[in-house]
Amino acid sequence: MDEVSVELRGISKRFGGILAVDRVTLQIYRGEFFSLLGPSGCGKTTTLRIIAGFEHPDSGELLINGSPATHTPPQERDVNLVFQNYALFPHLTVEQNVAFGLEMQKLPRAQIRERVGRALELVRLSGLGSRFPHQLSGGQQQRVALARAIVTEPSVLLLDEPLGALDLKLRQEMQLELKRLQRELKITFLYVTHDQDEALKMSDRLAVMHHGRVLQIGTPQEIYERPATRFVADFIGESNLLEGQVVHTAGRRAVVQIGPLTTNVLSDSPLQLHQRVTLALRPERIQLCFPNEGHGIWTGLVEELLYAGKETRYRVRVSPEITLTVISPGTNGITVGERVGLTWDLQSLRPIPEHSA
Ligand SMILES: Nc1ncnc2c1ncn2[C@@H]1O[C@H](COP(=O)(O)OP(=O)(O)OP(=O)(O)O)[C@@H](O)[C@H]1O
Ligand SMILES: [Mg+2]
Repeated sequence: MDEVSVELRGISKRFGGILAVDRVTLQIYRGEFFSLLGPSGCGKTTTLRIIAGFEHPDSGELLINGSPATHTPPQERDVNLVFQNYALFPHLTVEQNVAFGLEMQKLPRAQIRERVGRALELVRLSGLGSRFPHQLSGGQQQRVALARAIVTEPSVLLLDEPLGALDLKLRQEMQLELKRLQRELKITFLYVTHDQDEALKMSDRLAVMHHGRVLQIGTPQEIYERPATRFVADFIGESNLLEGQVVHTAGRRAVVQIGPLTTNVLSDSPLQLHQRVTLALRPERIQLCFPNEGHGIWTGLVEELLYAGKETRYRVRVSPEITLTVISPGTNGITVGERVGLTWDLQSLRPIPEHSA
């Protein structure tokens, strides 16, 4: 998987006063399912449009399959873009929609028919070829858009929130379909979403973007377990963010004071004495126990409890200024108003240096 399929080197793009894409550097490997994840307006679509060639960067370099592509016209790039709103031709049948790109390439009839048939089979739409878009469900229309994008056999498929318009059930079904499609086609998928759950589930690797910048690149597990910034810790999943100061250090171990409380911390690189840090602690990594059972790292008062079947969510006040969210599977007989002990593994408490975004 080492061959680079798409590479961005310090790509920036400004619209008036807005820096939509800010020095983005990325390497996407051949056959990889790579996602760009970030909130609305962070520059995801602009980055895709730059790769597709519909937008020209102000600075930086783009390489596709190892060759400089910054100045290559869109139709000569070996990529295809699937838009958020399928953008099907309403007056053409499903088959004609899918055939469009091949007709433009002036391929022989028989070859077009064969490739369209195969693309429709891949997206599981065989038999619906003579329908018009308005005679299809949202999910089926999205499949037509996908078939149209893969029929020209690009080496990179760019997908801009392709499931955004679908309801949750259909969306989950299509997530599986897309993964299957990518496995069968063995092409590079660059997938844009603002849904962190979707990005974690589907990606081999992902980049988290904010205000035009890439904050972190990694596997879903790396991003979830070792968020590099406060924003990433908060945007991906849920985190208790605790602000404190280092009051003691010993190699990679440190003691951090948070208000009236202290806790031990293990960090990848040594922390400095008196340094300010944010600690990120996932709600599901905290265990609650009755204080008389001992071993609580901190103790607190259960102020709120929400039972949601497969899990229970608690708000626990550990000091006048600090409450923690805790998520436990099932219930454990703890009720509102009760005093509890809180414990966690040292590895679950992630220090984030104060200067990161
Ligand atoms: N053609 C344009 N002219 C002016 N500003 C633009 C243009 N295109 C995008 N922008 C601005 O650039 C920033 C990034 O936009 P972009 O569409 O890339 O965000 P996005 O991450 O795709 O957001 P969303 O999740 O809402 O689709 C936004 O502030 C947007 O308003
Ligand atoms: Mg967008």
